[in-house]
Amino acid sequence: MELVSPAPSATPKIPFNRLEPLGRELEYVVQAISEREVGPASRFVRACEDWLTCHYKAAGVLLVPSATAALEMIAMLLDLGPGDEVIMPSFTFVSTANAMVLRGARPCFVDVLPGTMNIDPEAVAAAITPRTKAILPVHYAGVGCELERLGELARANDLVLVEDAAQAIGASRGGRRVGSAGALAALSFHETKNVGCGEGGALIVNDPAYLERAHMLRDKGTNRKAFLGGSADKYTWVDIGSSFSVSGLTAAFLLGQLEKLDELTARRRAIHARYMAAFQDLEDRGAVRLPRVEPLCDHNAHIFFMFLRSTEERERLIAYLASLRIQAVFHYVPLHTAPFARAHLEAPPSLPVTEDLAHRLLRLPLYNAMTNDEVDRVIHAVHGFFEG
Ligand SMILES: Cc1ncc(COP(=O)(O)O)c(C=O)c1O
Repeated sequence: MELVSPAPSATPKIPFNRLEPLGRELEYVVQAISEREVGPASRFVRACEDWLTCHYKAAGVLLVPSATAALEMIAMLLDLGPGDEVIMPSFTFVSTANAMVLRGARPCFVDVLPGTMNIDPEAVAAAITPRTKAILPVHYAGVGCELERLGELARANDLVLVEDAAQAIGASRGGRRVGSAGALAALSFHETKNVGCGEGGALIVNDPAYLERAHMLRDKGTNRKAFLGGSADKYTWVDIGSSFSVSGLTAAFLLGQLEKLDELTARRRAIHARYMAAFQDLEDRGAVRLPRVEPLCDHNAHIFFMFLRSTEERERLIAYLASLRIQAVFHYVPLHTAPFARAHLEAPPSLPVTEDLAHRLLRLPLYNAMTNDEVDRVIHAVHGFFEG
């Protein structure tokens, strides 16, 4: 059944996401070019790293090409190998698991909590075995996981807590920045994230014991940093590693974005709050279920999601919004059900929350430069679907 006639093609499209320069991004890129500061030793790379180190009160932060790269470095820094297990949610992006699989370790998938889609700490507790090396929570949608309980579990079982904070820049929990509780954490600056530079990421090193080696891994397995600092007399191959450094051009753009973090987080939270208020009546009528954010969490409004009653209804709503030139999307295919996991990994016991909710979750457009008129067009369209 057609609910409305499609929007005329002159109606501006509301994309799911859009990366916009918000501050001095373009000025910094021009400076990087004119000052020949475009390489990995660029002052713009250092400026981003200093900014992030101060923001996270970390032992150090390394800019890297992506959160995927940061997760791969985490797996190397933990010396993971065959026989080791890392506990993580199945409801996550493929890189969380693949980075561990690349070292020969096994992702041990557990269920999530239905309000936040964040890892369930009691499921983590139940999944710990003598082979477990690390716990790897993912802060879905920029809402901090239950880090206090996860930290306790890690300490009690002699495990390392590491964080996939790819979506979490600007978020805190209990007054502490999300990304600062684990020994190591990964951030993403992909164009779809709150702070973006096209492709980019960072490795947050909170435990200083990992810092020196992190630099070697990023420098292709060499002691380049020590050599340039004068503490090594030869520049040579000392470890495994890869090309995990970034260009000064990327960093120049990123610095402009980082400087606007507070402003853009506030704007995203206002959009998120506008969606939440506008859809409360739909939740009251049982048409949708809205996400929950614990009072302890200052989330960063990375994603606005809600649950429909069925996958079929979700698909119809996506098609309806597309006919009105509004792009809505869904994710993730739970990793334990994906073809790679089925072919190569032992199946976990069933993960009922993940298996149910991943198939009913819908994400609406949310980006830093989204106007109130655009938000209201989305709200109106979603109401139109349920009233049609
Ligand atoms: C939870 C999570 N982890 C890792 C990644 C990978 O980030 P990147 O694209 O920077 O490699 C993403 C990207 O969407 C993500 O959402």
